[in-house]
Amino acid sequence: MRIIIEPDYEGMSKKAAQIVAERIRNKPDIVLGLATGSTPLGMYQELVRLHKEEGLDFSKVTTFNLDEYWGLSPSHPQSYHYFMWNNLFSHINIDPDRVYIPSGRVRDIKTYCQWYEDKIKQVGGIDLQILGIGRDGHIGFNEPGSSLGSRTRIKTLAPETVEDNARFFKNKDEVPRYAITMGVGTIMEAKECMLLASGKNKAEAVQKCVEGPVSSECTSSALQLHPKVIIVLDEEASQNLKRKDYYIYAERIASRLEEI
Ligand code: PGA
Repeated sequence: MRIIIEPDYEGMSKKAAQIVAERIRNKPDIVLGLATGSTPLGMYQELVRLHKEEGLDFSKVTTFNLDEYWGLSPSHPQSYHYFMWNNLFSHINIDPDRVYIPSGRVRDIKTYCQWYEDKIKQVGGIDLQILGIGRDGHIGFNEPGSSLGSRTRIKTLAPETVEDNARFFKNKDEVPRYAITMGVGTIMEAKECMLLASGKNKAEAVQKCVEGPVSSECTSSALQLHPKVIIVLDEEASQNLKRKDYYIYAERIASRLEEI
């Protein structure tokens, strides 16, 4: 795992956007896995800026979103469809035919989830999967107890997640109780993963993800078994890491390895 610690949210967002932009420049037809939530917002803003000011080209990029609330229409302001179009897709030159976001409206969920999995495989798999992390350590909506081999499916949200997401709705009762989400197994098949976290309310989850035991109690800890992971944090989210000094040191001298 490569751990990058930036001073603040802005630094975290810019660093993450830089990494995504570099991957796009190296492979213009890259397949990106995308996340929603407050955490990646700054990264999306920076990607929009890189598109507008530096010509970062998304025309051949394919995207798959991690999850969507079950029961919300794409036009609902809290749906992840709405979030992605509003915060990223409408501002860049992405081909709408290359955008995949799980549907929150399908009735035959099992067939639909299998279709989503097959679609990812058909395009050659996800090259870079962006992830946020929940306070309970979830990635996607893979709440504690989710199988670490799980695939795209419908999942019941944990009370903690409903509470955290209530800030986006008029009241807690409006928060959907279910979501369609890629499974941990789906995420683990991405060729590279990049997890972002900001703020002290994520510090405990980040510590468990990076240094805790690999356990379905904290589904992000499965990333310890992934061969290529970057964790981009701000100072507050990194505050519980036991080996923080080492991560900072390793990152600082990493450039020297390129000279060998
Ligand atoms: P947040 O959500 O970015 O809004 O904190 C992260 C998550 O729950 O995965």
